[in-house]
Amino acid sequence: MSGAAETADQSFIPRAAEIAREAGARLREYFIAGVETEYKGDVDLVTVADRTVEKLIKSRLGEVFPEHGIYGEEGTRERMDSEYRWYVDPLDGTTNFAHGFPQFCVSMGLEHRPKSGRPGDDGTLVAGVIYDPMRDELFTAERGRGAQVNGKPARVSRVAELAEALLATGFPSRKRHASPNIHFYHEFTLRSHGVRRAGSAALDLAYVATGRLDAFWEFNLNPWDTAAGILLVEEAGGRVTDFAGAHFRLASDEILASNGLIQDELIGFFDDMFAGRNLSPIPTAEEFARARKNREQGAVSSQ
Ligand code: IPD
Ligand code: CA
Ligand code: CA
Repeated sequence: MSGAAETADQSFIPRAAEIAREAGARLREYFIAGVETEYKGDVDLVTVADRTVEKLIKSRLGEVFPEHGIYGEEGTRERMDSEYRWYVDPLDGTTNFAHGFPQFCVSMGLEHRPKSGRPGDDGTLVAGVIYDPMRDELFTAERGRGAQVNGKPARVSRVAELAEALLATGFPSRKRHASPNIHFYHEFTLRSHGVRRAGSAALDLAYVATGRLDAFWEFNLNPWDTAAGILLVEEAGGRVTDFAGAHFRLASDEILASNGLIQDELIGFFDDMFAGRNLSPIPTAEEFARARKNREQGAVSSQ
């Protein structure tokens, strides 16, 4: 008894949550023991934990949902023509993990891809599980059944203005010099209560879903980073789009997720940024140093 046949009235969550918990427990053991780090490229890190835990999840999903496909960050491509597909990030937050910074998670999002769909079409996200093994927090969502954190209902925040919002973002670990995100980080920092860069996109989305953050944006994420978190945000009452406000697609390069109340304000702000309008200049380091020197000289000559 498993797979597509039972989906109409049965929940995927209990069995997926059990797998995420087992995977998270394994990550925690590796984290405590310490692991060697390898480079996939530039500053894109990978460890034995990423690879071993992806294998574990692949094997458990195969046992429990034998008809489902699996698309994992560390290379798993199983049953890619299946009607259901899990997007798996065995360890979201590898850089944190490798440095002993305890902010990382397991993320598993399930997409339903109807046989009638055209190739390349997105399916519908139907279930998502994110597990933070260091805080023992399990974030779950199923389409139409709401979002939960450790079994209790999760809701987005009620913050209605960017000026009162706490935001989060992340930066790519590949082609870092091609990313404009530091400009957005700068502007958003000046227009909000602050921007966190905690290093796990899946947890950032889970935090929007639980109202701990009011919005999250990032350039160049992958479906294994976002699939579970998107459903969590939507089921918790929030909104997820691209930077122009269009419906978010798993293949989209850009993600903007919020409590919904500030989404339009954020979209307008992205529009301004891309057009170079209404920016808030700050001094360059050189200008700052010059002004500081002038102040110091002024203070000395007035003594
Ligand atoms: C990364 C994290 C990080 C985000 C990066 C991702 P990984 O995933 O989600 O927060 O800023 O863009 O690549 O590599 O740790 O699985
Ligand atoms: Ca990731
Ligand atoms: Ca990862």
